[in-house]
Amino acid sequence: MNTILSIQSIHKTFEAGTINENHVLRGMELDVQEGDFISIIGGNGAGKSTLMNSLAGTLTVDQGDILLEGKSIKNIPAAKRAKDIARVFQDPKMGTASRLTIEENMAIAYRRGLARGLSWGVKDSERQIFKESLKELGLGLENRLKVDTQFLSGGQRQALTLMMAALVKPKLLLLDEHTAALDPKTSDMVMDLTKKIVENHQLTTLMITHNMENAIEFGNRLVMLHQGRIVVDVRGEEKKNLTVQHLMDLFHKNSGQVLSNDELILN
Ligand SMILES: Nc1ncnc2c1ncn2[C@@H]1O[C@H](COP(=O)(O)OP(=O)(O)OP(=O)(O)O)[C@@H](O)[C@H]1O
Ligand SMILES: [Mg+2]
Repeated sequence: MNTILSIQSIHKTFEAGTINENHVLRGMELDVQEGDFISIIGGNGAGKSTLMNSLAGTLTVDQGDILLEGKSIKNIPAAKRAKDIARVFQDPKMGTASRLTIEENMAIAYRRGLARGLSWGVKDSERQIFKESLKELGLGLENRLKVDTQFLSGGQRQALTLMMAALVKPKLLLLDEHTAALDPKTSDMVMDLTKKIVENHQLTTLMITHNMENAIEFGNRLVMLHQGRIVVDVRGEEKKNLTVQHLMDLFHKNSGQVLSNDELILN
């Protein structure tokens, strides 16, 4: 199997040398195989978002290395990594430009990584591609290409953001609690679409979630973070057989903490 991403003993400390010094990533190691869909769980402050920021390049790590297809990306700026690494955040407003239409947003996603100097305006040939992609979502957005995304619901915006991420196949898709701001029914809808898009486009995916049931149900592999390290890594049959109680026990065993109801979200 092809290792697409190799995280090699990365460290990140915030506010080093001050009274607030916080050693968040503490020698994190993870090899991700092509096609892996990994659920990432862990308590608040465990370092999950810091890990994703480090992968996307919005943060630089202090030590260790990050290899994408065998090449170090540690010193490559976020804007350059964006061609290969797509992200979906918790806030639906983050994924699209509100005052641009669906097709304009899609054109930006479609052209990422291409040379600049393209004339503005969506071409008919592109519009056809966008329509076909949107049909895959089953939300009727293919008939609303000229609507500003500010008029879409949170769930529709997350679905569109996911589709935009897949429009040009990224090497890595990062989902940071991308359904956490949605109501339970919409969250289920977006999770089903996530599964469909990841499978149809064979995307290598890391998904942070606080929803233990989703963490068990989706993906082929599950990792648990605690204090900036991976303390549990299960896959395949073993993952399928996990239960929420089992995960809570594992969390307790590794952290000494009991998850509160707030942290354990069961929609
Ligand atoms: N830019 C920053 N500057 C200073 N401290 C930061 C920064 N980003 C994160 N931290 C701190 O690092 C720690 C880990 O934060 P991180 O966001 O990675 O946690 P998380 O696992 O994503 O938690 P949550 O489940 O609450 O989203 C926290 O203590 C946080 O306050
Ligand atoms: Mg986070």
